[in-house]
This record gives sequence, structure tokens and C-alpha cells, in this order.
Amino acid sequence: MTPITVETTPIDGQKPGTSGLRKKTRVFMQPGYLENFVQAIFNGIGGAEGKSFVIGGDGRYFNATAIQTMLKMAAANGAAKVIVGQNGLLSTPAASNLIRQKKTDGGLILSASHNPGGIDEDFGVKYNTSNGGPAPEGITDAIFAETTSLNKYVTVEAPDVDLASIGTTEVAGMAVEVIDPVTDYQALMTTLFDFDKLRALFASGFTMRFDAMHAVTGPYAKAVLEEALGAPAGTVVNAVPLEDFGGGHPDPNPVWAKELMDLMMSDTSPDFGAASDGDGDRNMIVGRGQYVTPSDSLAVLAANAYLAPGYAAGLAGVARSMPTSAASDRVAEKLGIGSFETPTGWKFFGNLLDAGMATICGEESAGTGSNHVREKDGLWAVLLWLNILAERRQSVAEILTDHWGSYGRDYYSRHDYEAIPTDQANALVGSVRERLSVLPGQSFAGLAVTAADEFAYNDPVDGSVSKGQGLRIWFEGGARAVLRLSGTGTEGATLRVYLEQYADQAADHGLDAQVALAGVRAALVELCDMQAHIGRIDPDVMT
Ligand code: G1P
Ligand code: ZN
Repeated sequence: MTPITVETTPIDGQKPGTSGLRKKTRVFMQPGYLENFVQAIFNGIGGAEGKSFVIGGDGRYFNATAIQTMLKMAAANGAAKVIVGQNGLLSTPAASNLIRQKKTDGGLILSASHNPGGIDEDFGVKYNTSNGGPAPEGITDAIFAETTSLNKYVTVEAPDVDLASIGTTEVAGMAVEVIDPVTDYQALMTTLFDFDKLRALFASGFTMRFDAMHAVTGPYAKAVLEEALGAPAGTVVNAVPLEDFGGGHPDPNPVWAKELMDLMMSDTSPDFGAASDGDGDRNMIVGRGQYVTPSDSLAVLAANAYLAPGYAAGLAGVARSMPTSAASDRVAEKLGIGSFETPTGWKFFGNLLDAGMATICGEESAGTGSNHVREKDGLWAVLLWLNILAERRQSVAEILTDHWGSYGRDYYSRHDYEAIPTDQANALVGSVRERLSVLPGQSFAGLAVTAADEFAYNDPVDGSVSKGQGLRIWFEGGARAVLRLSGTGTEGATLRVYLEQYADQAADHGLDAQVALAGVRAALVELCDMQAHIGRIDPDVMT
């Protein structure tokens, strides 16, 4: 079939960030917009001729329609084969796994992660390369360059593919294989975790609630936790993916997963609680009466991973994003393994994982994962916790208390200031940047700065340098504050303030985090003259 060439105009590209291109759904729905970006991807990777791809998304509004568009365009661009999740669904980690297992040239993932879904909410598309990870900067730059100049795309006229039926079909000569989205992912999990032990844990009466937040992990969690591991029906709640995530904000943190948090803090709490986000790569871990910060979760997982079969040989190293607390560094130091600090965004972990330098990675934003795929993986983190709980036979609270007793506690919280006028946000960050070199020695709200810099990352694998990755300010007494602007927001600027306070092994580990962080917070607010710059000092969200 001859491809049809459609004339179009360049889109207001916006450089795809660490998570691909994210826009309001209606922007993507404008005639030619999605098409333009998809063509830019195919051009940016040097063409699709003869290549194979995985395509799937988190099921949000426009997911299925966009997939039909992509299939036709892939065919017109000469792709040989596309593997699609049934009903267009694939969690991000499952897509990463499929790209690797099926050895495809790459994959297109449709998601705006934890952002709300719906016609008036967010949509996104990102490209992952053959290692299963997000495209590196060289490729996203090439895609971006295409979006700003592209004036035509190609497609074919063909009937829509029946995405509900498993099996192989074709679009204009290109093979399309619709597969069960869970099967291969579940098979991978059985190689990493002791499913017999986990079955025995549930059989012994261990109770859990997993909140899938009406997002893509529902089918995965049901299949693994309830069907394979025997957790009672109803363990997984909000398990059916909805186009608008039930009107919620599918972000697994104490603010957006409040119902789960309330249950876990109540008298009727199960032993263990967890949640995952829109596309299934983030996780929240909470024990009975005990929330676990993502930074602490990373540290506990690193310290105990050897208890799971997939990590019994030990870890090569642990990597964390710069704003993540230093808790995992302490574990790596004790284990005598590599310890890495990377810029925000999962793609920086890819090189370390590919090179075998790190085994487990994590971000303060509720992303944890390992070398089993090249994305963070929500359900994986939950299963590793379960495997640790099954081996240690202690509660989450006991494990944390024990951990802090050995390593000390890194009190931690992130404060987000959302929808700030971009010029105000830039001015605030700019004014701190200008003063970085003179800050040490100065005191703010009674706390002296000991060091300050702007984080730059020298990739130890490919030698690339990423500058301007956030401002770091250390204070006396083991406190640190980090300032950076979000790269994933879709409205104005989001200022993220990351606060951290170390309390050593002998210190009090029972404080409320916000109380423990009050000192460093006051110092930071004064240091950046927050009130004057943005007209407020109270954040919209504290996690
Ligand atoms: C946020 C998180 C970051 C994560 C990214 C994609 O990015 O902070 O850790 O990698 O989403 O999930 P940000 O909005 O801060 O740029
Ligand atoms: Zn996500």
C-alpha cells in the first residue's frame, strides 16, 4: 500500500524532557499534532524502515485513538512489526521489559505518568531505545529538531486494529501483534522473587492493600498479588484502569493516596500498603502506622535486597538522583559497593545499569528500580519489599527502626510550589545561583551555610556532562536544601524545594519529619527570599 503524505506545519515542539513530550490532551488532539511528533520520532531515530517497536500506554483518555494513529504511521514509515499491549495497555516497566525481551528497536510509550488524565488533563508520548530505557539526550535533541521543522508526515489508509483481541494481524503489510500486557512482566518477576515464600506469607494471614489508583497497574497487581500469590480478592483496590483515573491524581504519595494512608494509620490497618502511579513506574510503601519515604525505601531495599533470589549475589552499586536523600549512600558505603548521584530523571541511571555499575536505583519522587528493566518499576518495588518482609518476619516499622539504628535517619521532605509565573521562578533560582559562592559562612534563620554549588553530572560511562541540575546548599548540623525547577509540569513553573536533615544512630528517630526539618526550611525560605520572589512561603504539596 502506498503511504499518503500529509502536509502539516511544525508543532510548537518544546524539547521533550526526561519523560518525553507532555502536553494538555487537547493539544495532542489538534489535527496533525500527534502525527507531527510521531513523525519527528521516526525521523529522529533515523527512520523506521524495517524496524520493530513496542507500543502501549497507561490507558488514559486518547490512548487507544493515538495508538491507531501510530500504527498507521509506523506502517507508512516502513516498520516491519509492532507489538501492542491488549486494549493498548502497557505499564512503563512492562514496555521496557518487552523492548528488551523481544529485542525490538525501541518503543513508544503513551503516558503523562502521574498527571491526571482526561480530555482537559494531560497526555504524553515518549520514545525508549532498544535497551528499554528512555531515549538519551542525543536522540531527544534530534526529535526536537525535527518537530520544529517538519512539514509533512506519512500514514496509510487502513481499518483500525482490533486491540481487544490477542493475536497477530497487519496494517498495510506491517505485522501487529496484540499481546497480554501482564504475561511477560509476570514471568520476569518470578525470576527475581521467591514466589513460594510470598505465597506462604499470604497464606499465613499477612494482609495487604494495593491501591492501583484506577491506573495501569491494576491488571498487573491483580494477576501477581491475588492470582499468583494468593492474596485475598479485594487486596488490590481501584484495579480497573479508567481513562480519567476516576477523576483522581494517580500519584502515589501521602497527598494523592490519602485514602490508603488513612487506612494504614487507622486501627483496621492491614500489615502492608502500597500504591502505584498512572503508568506503573512509581510506588508508595507504607506499613501499619508507618509511612516510608522513597529515599528511605531505596536505602532499605539496597540493604536487604540480598534476601531476594534475584539479588542474592549482592549489588554492584546503588544510584540515586541528586535530590534524593543520602540514606542509600550510607548503605552503599557499608556494603563497600558503588554509590552514584545522578541528575533527576531515570534516563541517567541507564548508562550505569547497562555498564553493570549499579544494580538498584531510586529517586525521591517515588521511583525505584533495578537492572531488570531500564525504567523505574512500581510493582517490582512492592514485591521486593514483600520478599524482605517474608524473610525478616518483622513489620515495616520494625525494619525502619532497625535501619535507622544502624545508619542514622535522614529526615526528608519535598515541598512543591506549583503554577508559579515562570519569570518569578527563574528570578528566585537566578538570585540564589548568583550568590552561591558567597553563601558559605553566612547564616540564615540562625543556620550557617557550610557549602553551596550547582549540581553538574559527569557521566562515568560516556563522559557526557550535564550542567545546571539543581542548586545544593548544605548547612551546619547535617542539613541540606536543594532547589530546582520541575521539568515535567504543564502549567507555569513548579519550584521544588528538597529538605533533608541527618540524625545520627544515637539521635531521636521518632520526630515528625516536618518538625525535624523546620530549621532547614526556615533557613532556605530566608536565604532565597521566597516571600519577595513568589509572594508566599507555603508550598502547595509536601511529600
Ligand atoms: C519528576 C520527578 C523526577 C522524575 C520525573 C519523571 O520530574 O521529580 O524525579 O524522574 O518526574 O517521573 P520533575 O517534575 O521534578 O522534573
Ligand atoms: Zn510514572
